[in-house]
Amino acid sequence: MAEDTTHKDDIELLRGVRRGLAARPKTLEPKWFYDETGSALFEEITQLSEYYPTRTELAILSQAADALARYLPAGGALVELGSGASRKTRTLIEAAPHLAAYLPIDISEQFLHSVARDLRKRYPALEIAPVVADFTRPLSLPAPFHTMPKAAFFPGSTIGNFLPAEAMVLLRQVRDWQTVEHFIIGIDLVKDTETLIAAYDDAQGITAAFNRNILRRINRELAADFDLSGFDHEARWNSAQSRIEMHLVSQRDQTVTIAGDQYAFQAGESIHTENSHKYTEKGFTSLAAQAGWEVTDFITDPHDFFAVAILTPAD
Ligand code: SAH
Ligand code: AVI
Repeated sequence: MAEDTTHKDDIELLRGVRRGLAARPKTLEPKWFYDETGSALFEEITQLSEYYPTRTELAILSQAADALARYLPAGGALVELGSGASRKTRTLIEAAPHLAAYLPIDISEQFLHSVARDLRKRYPALEIAPVVADFTRPLSLPAPFHTMPKAAFFPGSTIGNFLPAEAMVLLRQVRDWQTVEHFIIGIDLVKDTETLIAAYDDAQGITAAFNRNILRRINRELAADFDLSGFDHEARWNSAQSRIEMHLVSQRDQTVTIAGDQYAFQAGESIHTENSHKYTEKGFTSLAAQAGWEVTDFITDPHDFFAVAILTPAD
């Protein structure tokens, strides 16, 4: 069973790598960052002084926990997209003992299961039902949860890792779930470039290691021979698209073999690995409206660095 799953995942990864490296500029989708090592590296990023999003969002959630708990249905479920360590979710769960179930959805299988084990110990009265899935694909929730009243939660500004058109499809997918009453979503806001670049190019090089981990993973899972030290981590602010971009830039002309195929990289050529879009309240409200959501509340921190938006289905 485990072997079958791994085989299927490797085929998906191989397809994604072939498609991405055939594109110009070369790209790799950020979802491939998150094997067990990638998830652990992301947790390290969340502790960095430069990476303001996690502590800022956590502070908003803690301060507004009681008000947010009123959006979580009694006897219902909290469904989280890209749950990772579920650290922020604990704030909501503790403020809402009336919840019956928590469904963390994540692509990082081992990490998800280990977090779920910990949550079961912490909250024995809450049903914990982890779902290993890629939420960019059509997703059906396990049967008993279809019709249960539910709130969706998508913190971290992970929505920002998608192009606006893809983000709209994701918002629409959640809007189409049966019996979804509210959607609580974290949004990173536009701010000065220096703060943004530092957050994605920290002094300790943890973000660089996170970025290069995608190559390490391809080496391990697809018998590839990327020389990790041959690619520089770069964080760039693209003001026209309002996004931070992460790139891995080839330091020299080099050829890499992946699953038996050869790929040439010129000196200075980049693999674009991630976008992290930054929104304004107006821009996000308009995106949400296109997906059938009304912004009921938009809670920010005192510096307007980050927002937690409460969405309600528009009639
Ligand atoms: N929610 C946490 C973690 C954010 S990191 C926080 O706010 O700190 C992004 C998370 O989304 C990771 O756990 C990653 O494994 C997951 N993820 C990324 N792309 C995904 C996809 N396409 N489908 C499912 N999970 C995904
Ligand atoms: C998960 N996601 C919202 C993070 C972000 O900020 O875009 C991933 C990340 N990439 C580099 N640092 C953190």
